[in-house]
Amino acid sequence: MSFDRTLKIAPSILSADFADFGREIRAIEDQGADWVHVDVMDGHFVPNLTFGPPAVKAFRPHVKTVMDVHLMIAPVDPFIAAYAEAGADVITAHFEAGPHPHRTLQAIRAAGCKAGLALNPGTPAASVEYLLDMVDLVCVMTVNPGFGGQKFIHSQVDKIKQLRRMIGTRPVHIEIDGGVDPTTAPLVADAGADVLVAGSAVFKGGSVDTPQVYGQNIRAIREAGQGVYI
Ligand code: DX5
Ligand code: ZN
Repeated sequence: MSFDRTLKIAPSILSADFADFGREIRAIEDQGADWVHVDVMDGHFVPNLTFGPPAVKAFRPHVKTVMDVHLMIAPVDPFIAAYAEAGADVITAHFEAGPHPHRTLQAIRAAGCKAGLALNPGTPAASVEYLLDMVDLVCVMTVNPGFGGQKFIHSQVDKIKQLRRMIGTRPVHIEIDGGVDPTTAPLVADAGADVLVAGSAVFKGGSVDTPQVYGQNIRAIREAGQGVYI
């Protein structure tokens, strides 16, 4: 996985048809997805439950691009090896998931994955100051984690600008997660984000039988983001 700052769209399969993940993943990739975002929830760190390592392992053969695994679980360290073995390319843990984010990031890289750190809306950018050389990605949650289809929290745009300044020339992605669509994509791209996660805005109105709708939705988000991102 080489690093570049071109705008990337990462559909979240949390909004896909749970009975048909293989075809859904292939459909979004065929229709232009750059990464595939996999939301792992434990019913404890967030009030929802999704995918254990066996499910993620079953998704792997269908992902041809980058499998971007977002761990909304606490504790997180005991599960890093299992999600790495399941085939994650990027593992993102939450800063709030435990007292030792520095150790967690070391463990993710030691497992051979790119390391991401996610910040809940209430967590300031300054939290990552001493961790920026340990990460390949910082994920700014623009909703409170746990569900798709929520409203974008506009106060987070300033946090993205702060992170962009703090990161400087380091090869670190800024990922945005929650409420991304063609109206919010320009705001976050302009602020410095380069990976846009989108669930409901990509899957709405489409299906594996009408994948061209996914393509239209992905293009609409990308073009809206690029409108500012020359
Ligand atoms: C929420 C997840 C997001 C979610 C995004 O906790 O981390 O990835 O699926 O869905 P939308 O784009 O619908 O807000
Ligand atoms: Zn997510």
